[in-house]
Amino acid sequence: MNVINLKNQTIASQYLATELLKQLKTKPNTVLGLATGGTMIDVYKYLSELLNINQIDLSRVVTFNLDEYVGLAPDHKQSYHVYMNEHLFKHNDSWQKNNIHLPMGNAKDVVQESRTYEQLLCDIGPADIQILGIGENGHIGFNEPYTSFDSVTSVVDLAPSTIKANSKHFETIENVPKQAISMGLSSIMRAKRIILLALGEHKQYAIKQLLEGDISESLPASILRQHANVEVIVDDEIFQFNKYH
Ligand code: PGA
Repeated sequence: MNVINLKNQTIASQYLATELLKQLKTKPNTVLGLATGGTMIDVYKYLSELLNINQIDLSRVVTFNLDEYVGLAPDHKQSYHVYMNEHLFKHNDSWQKNNIHLPMGNAKDVVQESRTYEQLLCDIGPADIQILGIGENGHIGFNEPYTSFDSVTSVVDLAPSTIKANSKHFETIENVPKQAISMGLSSIMRAKRIILLALGEHKQYAIKQLLEGDISESLPASILRQHANVEVIVDDEIFQFNKYH
C-alpha cells in the first residue's frame, strides 16, 4: 500500500481529480467506482473543471457508486443520487444517464436490488479505478466493522457512529436512514486500482489502524492491504499523527 502525504485538502483533491482525468482521457470506456461524502466534494469540483477545459468525451464512461441510503428516493435531497448530480454529473453534458449506476434506495425489494447491482458490476466491471473515503471507524462504502471480507453488494445496517457522523447532512439524527445498499468488501477489491482519500484530524486513528493494525474484519479498510494496487492519500495532519504516535 502506497501512502502519500499531499499536505492539505486542496492538493490532495487536485491530485485525485488529476488521476481521474488521466484515466478518462486515456481510456474513453473507463469503468469508474465513485464515492460520496464530504471528502469527495472538492475532488468532483476540480474534476468537473478539468473535464471541461480538456473537453473530455464522457459518453462511454460507466460509473458505479459505492452505496445509497435505503428508503431515499433518487430525488431526495440527502440521497447520493442528488449528491452525485449536484457535485459531478450536472457539470458536464457528456455524462450519459444510462451509464451512471447507483443502487436504488427506494426499490420495493432492496435485497433484489442489491443482487441486481452486484450482477451488473460483475458484468460491466471491474472498475479501472475505485475511489474511496474512509469512516472514522474504518468503514469503506457502508461496510461497517465486522462486515465479512467476502461480502458483496447487500443491504447493510449503519453503525451508530456513522449515523451520528452523517446526521450533519440531515435535519435531525432521527431522519438519518438506518440502512443502506452498499457494495461489499469483495466487490470493492475487484477494482484494478484503488485510491483512498482521508483528510482531517477525525480520520487520524482510522488511518493509523489501517497502516499499523492487523488485517481484520474489525477494521473493514484493512482488507485493502491485500490489494496489489492501492494508494492512500492523506493530509499532513494525518501523516504527522502517524509519524509521532
Ligand atoms: P466523509 O465520509 O467523506 O463525509 O468523511 C467518508 C466515509 O464515511 O466513507
